[in-house]
Amino acid sequence: MTAIDFEGVRFSYDDSKNALDGVTLHIAAGEFVAVLGGNGSGKSTLAKHVNALLVPRTGTVLTLGMDTQDPDSLYLIRQNAGMVFQNPDDQLVATLVENEVAFGPENLGVPSSELELRVRDALHEVGFRDASFATHETNALSGGQKQRLAIAGVLAMEPRILILDEATAMLDPRGRRGLLRIARELNANGMTVIMITHSMEEAAQASRVIVLREGRIVADGSPAQVLCDKETLSSLHLRLPFAVRLSLALQQRGIPVSIHLDESSLEEELCSLNSAM
Ligand SMILES: Nc1ncnc2c1ncn2[C@@H]1O[C@H](COP(=O)(O)OP(=O)(O)O)[C@@H](O)[C@H]1O
Ligand SMILES: [Mg+2]
Repeated sequence: MTAIDFEGVRFSYDDSKNALDGVTLHIAAGEFVAVLGGNGSGKSTLAKHVNALLVPRTGTVLTLGMDTQDPDSLYLIRQNAGMVFQNPDDQLVATLVENEVAFGPENLGVPSSELELRVRDALHEVGFRDASFATHETNALSGGQKQRLAIAGVLAMEPRILILDEATAMLDPRGRRGLLRIARELNANGMTVIMITHSMEEAAQASRVIVLREGRIVADGSPAQVLCDKETLSSLHLRLPFAVRLSLALQQRGIPVSIHLDESSLEEELCSLNSAM
C-alpha cells in the first residue's frame, strides 16, 4: 500500500512562483525517505501537503489513500501524519512532560483511562523510560530531549506517518544521533518516516533519498544512487557525505577500498585491508 501519493502537484504562496512545481511522488508504507535540497527548494511546502496544512493548487495529494482536499478526511489525515519542526521551543505547549504528551490525544478525544498508557508508551518509544520523567518541567530539558518529547507528543496520537522537518537542525551531535536512532527504530517497527535534512550523513541512513530544487524533484533513489553521484550533487551545491569523500580520496591514492556511505563500514574495510597486508 502507498502511504503518500502526489500527482502533478503545483502550489504557490503568492502566484509569483511555484513553491511546488509539478511534483509526482509515491511513498510506500514503511519507507524511510530523506528529503534534501537548498533553502527555499520546497521541502517544507512538500511536508505540509502530506498532512493537509497546505493543499495543492493543481494536482492531488492522497495521504493513506485519503484526498487532502476532502474536508471529511482532515481529522484522520492530521492524526495519522504527525510533524515535528526545527525549533524545539516553538512546538512545546505544556509545562509538564506528561501534559505535553497528553495534549494531542486529549484533543483527539482519547478517554482519560487510556491517556496514561498512551503517554507512558510514547515516552518509552523515544527513550524516556524513567517513570519520574513524566513530571519533569519541559523548559528544563535539553534541545535534544525537547525534540524527543515533541516526537512523543506525535506518537501518542498513534500516527502511521512521521514527518521530521529539519528536526535535528538545532541540536548538538549527541542530540542529532539520538533523534536519528529513534527515527530508525520507529521505521524498523513499521512507521513511514519522511526526514527533511541538510545533513548528507543523516540522509545516508534513509532507505530512499529525494532531492528537491525549485519545487521539482531532481533526484530520487537509494542513498547509494543519489549520495554517491558527484556530478548531480555538485550541480545542486550539495556535498558528498564525508565517508564517500574519504573513500574516493583513498581510491585516488591507490588504496583499494569501495565507496562507503557510512564511516563505520569504511573503517571496517580499512581494518580488514590492514590485517590482510
Ligand atoms: N509563508 C510563505 N509565504 C510566501 N512564500 C513562502 C512561504 N513559505 C515559503 N515560501 C516560499 O516558497 C518557496 C519554498 O519554501 P519552503 O517550502 O519553505 O522551502 P524549504 O523548506 O526547502 O526551505 C520559497 O521560495 C519560499 O520563499
Ligand atoms: Mg523548510
